Amino acid sequence: MCGIVGYMGRSDSVSFLMEGLKRLEYRGYDSAGLAVHTGDALAVRKCVGRLAELENRLSEQPVQGRSGIGHTRWATHGEPSEINSHPHLDSSGRIAVVHNGIIENYQELRDTLEKQDHVFRSHTDTEVIPHLIEQERTDGAASFRDALLAALRKARGAYALGILSQDEPGILYAARLGSPLIIGLGENEYFIASDVPAVMNRVHGVIYLDDGEVAELKPDGVTVFKLDGTPTTPEIKTVDLQPEAAERAGFETFMLKEIHEQPRVLRALLEKHLDHANRIALPEIHAEPDYFRNLHRVMIVSCGTAYHAGMYGRLLLENLTGLAVEADLGSEFRYRSPKIDQNTLFIAVSQSGETADTLASVRLARDMGCRILAICNVPGSTLVRESDGVIFTDCGPEIGVASTKAYTAQLLVFALFSIWAGRLRNEISSDMEQDFVRALKRIPDAIHYVLERDRVIRDIADKHHDGPSALYIGRRYNYPTALEGALKNKEISYQHAEGYAAGEMKHGPIALINEYLPVVCICTRTADAVYEKMMSNMKEVEARHGRIIAVATDGDEAVLKLAEDIIYVPDTREELSPIVNVVALQLLAYYAAQARGTDIDKPRNLAKSVTVE
Ligand code: F6R
Repeated sequence: MCGIVGYMGRSDSVSFLMEGLKRLEYRGYDSAGLAVHTGDALAVRKCVGRLAELENRLSEQPVQGRSGIGHTRWATHGEPSEINSHPHLDSSGRIAVVHNGIIENYQELRDTLEKQDHVFRSHTDTEVIPHLIEQERTDGAASFRDALLAALRKARGAYALGILSQDEPGILYAARLGSPLIIGLGENEYFIASDVPAVMNRVHGVIYLDDGEVAELKPDGVTVFKLDGTPTTPEIKTVDLQPEAAERAGFETFMLKEIHEQPRVLRALLEKHLDHANRIALPEIHAEPDYFRNLHRVMIVSCGTAYHAGMYGRLLLENLTGLAVEADLGSEFRYRSPKIDQNTLFIAVSQSGETADTLASVRLARDMGCRILAICNVPGSTLVRESDGVIFTDCGPEIGVASTKAYTAQLLVFALFSIWAGRLRNEISSDMEQDFVRALKRIPDAIHYVLERDRVIRDIADKHHDGPSALYIGRRYNYPTALEGALKNKEISYQHAEGYAAGEMKHGPIALINEYLPVVCICTRTADAVYEKMMSNMKEVEARHGRIIAVATDGDEAVLKLAEDIIYVPDTREELSPIVNVVALQLLAYYAAQARGTDIDKPRNLAKSVTVE
């Protein structure tokens, strides 16, 4: 979704605006622009396409100034075009605005403003904001700030805004309602940004603006107030991200780097949650043990990859805690009439913590009396702030649009939580917990082993990448793995891919099988209950000459007779095997995408963080 940056200080703003926008590229965009206060006027540069285009524009038409705002746009209202890209101006060209979110009542506002002779240039919802401020000024607002607050009180929907006024060269305004925005505090310089990585090498602290807050940034400080003008005292948080975390560290893409970070990330996450007696500890849940003992039901809601993690969580929680557990998509859940109440624990899973459908579902669940537990990667995100307890996935910034390390960390968190809650509810014994802990400790090395099979996986991807389609099948814990493998493939390689529960083959998808179709079969652990069933499914595919790519356990020779290609993975306890198996599928998708020549870190049409419905 759109990225916002802004600068107010004593240096030239343009170099930061471009650097900050580059760090937000992962959010996805189709056009970009900036506005700079040159000292006596607002200069705007914008264009369609990548930031390189904007850089070219700036070298042809350079601009300088000590305050500025920048934007990468992911089109919602109005096609990607120069006219629709941000910043947007009022009629007089004296107010510039960048925006992430949706102004829901924009048509109504625009109709009124047009009757007052405002001339609109774009098809965006955003453009009403500068015109509204201009109108409030015309109608007699005592100051620019008053006009801004009055305008925002009229806007409905969601926004993160950066605003410059030609008449106030020393002030940059920022506002937030429902879309993320942070203020970065540097040495005599202040920043706004959609996300911390944009500013992390320039600031010592950040303020996470709350909904309904407006900030005024001046060269000598920041003040924050509410929409009614009352000042607030914002909390300053320290930034503990290292700048190099946002760099590629020698990998050709962020996605590949993030795939390789998984052993380290998971090891650290596991260590953080084991106490001195090797038992799982989750103090951050902030709930009395009795709460979990008396609980009836768990509802897990998330979107995309995080939904696959939720499906895995449902199986594991149900199995280890004896609770009734359901998992749903945010976009579906929010329109249901769910039967949930104060005896339901609502778990929201989100890498970004800003996904609109997940947040809407959280608000619905809260209204119905549920306690909210978040599994999230981004401290200070909206989800974190709206939840009663949070288990952080602690992956560091995930820049590649396709989620990898956040997914395996979400699975690990579900494993930790399920075992922990199972023991608390006396559904599993301490010995069983210790068995699980031993198996969990082997996961980072098992992933490492898969990463070392990189060459084998690349060769398999090279062989199968050019077909029009691929099928992924798995059962039980590895059914979500099949869905996730297919999702990874389609989103980065653009090869059509379907994930299916293998038991459904005869109910339809078997009709697809012919001698051209690659079928990825997740068939690990010969001792598992569903192994034999998976073998039967593979035989069905083989009999119809499908091209089987098996993910199988090291040493399994039976698979050799059926599969054209095999990715061997280490033997891992069935319940935990998805954490390892999915890494093979991440690499398979990665190398298919590489062979197909796509833009892996920024796949077409996708945004990292889906902050609108
Ligand atoms: C796919 C992917 C998306 C996200 C989904 C939810 O690789 O990353 O499907 O998982 O948009 O995002 P979060 O986890 O930020 O709520």
